[in-house]
Amino acid sequence: MRKKVDFLVIGSGIAGLSFAIKVADYGKVCIISKNEAAETATRYAQGGIAAVMYTPDTYEKHIKDTMVAGDDLSNPEIVRITITESTDRVKELIDWGTQFDKKESGRYDLAKEGGHSEYRVLHHKDSTGEEIQRALLENIRNHPNIEMIENAFTIDLITQHHLGQEINKKSEGVKCYGAYFLNPETKKIDMVLSKVTLLATGGAGNVYNTTTNPEIATGDGVAMVYRAKGLIENMEFFQFHPTSLYNPEEKPSFLITEAMRGHGGILKTCKGEEFMHKYDERGSLAPRDIVARSIDTEMKLSGDDHVYLDCTHLDKNETINKFPKIYAKCLSIGIDITKEMIPVVPASHYTCGGIKVDEFGKTSIENLYASGECASTGLHGANRLASNSLLESAVFSHRASLDAIDKIEKIALCDEIPDWDSSGTHLNEEMVLVTQSYKELQQIMSSYVGIVRSDLRLKRALDRLEIIYRETEDLYEQSVLTVKICELRNLINVAYLIIKMAKKRKESRGLHYSIDYPKTK
Ligand code: FAD
Ligand code: SIN
Repeated sequence: MRKKVDFLVIGSGIAGLSFAIKVADYGKVCIISKNEAAETATRYAQGGIAAVMYTPDTYEKHIKDTMVAGDDLSNPEIVRITITESTDRVKELIDWGTQFDKKESGRYDLAKEGGHSEYRVLHHKDSTGEEIQRALLENIRNHPNIEMIENAFTIDLITQHHLGQEINKKSEGVKCYGAYFLNPETKKIDMVLSKVTLLATGGAGNVYNTTTNPEIATGDGVAMVYRAKGLIENMEFFQFHPTSLYNPEEKPSFLITEAMRGHGGILKTCKGEEFMHKYDERGSLAPRDIVARSIDTEMKLSGDDHVYLDCTHLDKNETINKFPKIYAKCLSIGIDITKEMIPVVPASHYTCGGIKVDEFGKTSIENLYASGECASTGLHGANRLASNSLLESAVFSHRASLDAIDKIEKIALCDEIPDWDSSGTHLNEEMVLVTQSYKELQQIMSSYVGIVRSDLRLKRALDRLEIIYRETEDLYEQSVLTVKICELRNLINVAYLIIKMAKKRKESRGLHYSIDYPKTK
């Protein structure tokens, strides 16, 4: 099958859906998601979306907080664009039906998270992402120009390479004509040909063995662009969330929102001692990189498997009312958070780097845009400020839609694309090789390329990765394609980019911390 559309959107989280809603009045849209449409990282977002709503907050304060969190590596122009457009994008989410919590006065009930100097995080209790995802999907399902294909795994972007043309290494002149995907009904590899394609494939948290990210977060978009010779940047900046629930058997790890610390929760050691002020005067509400590293240090010093978040001193009814999901989850494993401390541990959470895009979400590949967690806009620099991610997705999907709508009339579909070549593939019973390599990969990344790194650890990681890479490429060449082998291959690709970029950075900056280059300021 070859489907022909104006706009192909790969991903059904906030980035993909908000773009689709905007372009749907200008042509046919096809959205592909590799799982059910609602199964995205967006859905699991707890804390909320940061935006400047009322005084005493100002754009300048939010800009400054974002720059400070990013360890001065954020692009100031991109930061300004994002923050000054925050209010409009949030109002648009509200117009599309998203319900954010309000106070009795009718004003939005804004929360505070690590690194924010003001209360500016709009939320829907502790299920903000679920509410945004619901509202967006409702708009999508009612639109006659939008088709959604669920449970369809996109394998690769279609470029001149598939027309048999050479692509030089620097990505110059590469064009995107659509994508190949695994058709869930026929189990065959089909294609969508498009004038414009948006990658909104989310993050890559599963490159580590403890993550808050859903299973779908395997860096597919980044790997596809890398294979298509597009530009990727900043992959060394991988954010670990300081507080995921310590419950070793559970995957993904359940998040304990930073908003709980904003509400007064305090981090303590297993002996019940506060420790954050040893590391930063902002205490439990310091930016994430600092808090995660401090917890890591405390765990290494004590030999304990976790620390605690103490909320027992807070008003019981407020805790239950503001964080009903967390309360219920902890109760389900025997912890009453109004009476007992919550065991927490850092977990991989957010891919700050990704597909390099400009201020309109344009990648280095013609007719290909990227938005959301798979993209690197320059907003986050060396470390993302909490709740700036949903915002970034909304802002850059909006900007990408403006650019794409402007161009769509001038782009022709390319119809000479050959079918996917499956020749030489015969193996289909080697799942054990795939699952084992998946675990090995996560182990390598967690042991050597985690919160604290060194030159020697990075070298060891690269040496080990090389072996898994070669074995997986051999297997891929011979295998009947499955989602699992494609995801493994993509994660290996992502791991390679993280290690390579980490090796190149000869300093400790933001989320990239190396014992060989101690921080001087
Ligand atoms: P996602 O929402 O992850 O969507 C990715 C989509 O791409 C999915 O539809 C998936 O099926 C599809 N896809 C991926 N690969 C393929 C493929 N090969 N083929 C087809 N489809 C594919 N950020 C905040 O700003 N505030 C928060 O409070 C917050 N809390 C968070 C809590 C948790 C537990 C997590 C995990 C993240 C949180 N984040 C938060 C981060 C934020 O949720 C994500 O960065 C954001 O939702 C990403 O949106 P997205 O649209 O880019 O990707
Ligand atoms: C959280 O609620 O702590 C997550 C917020 C984020 O990742 O931005």
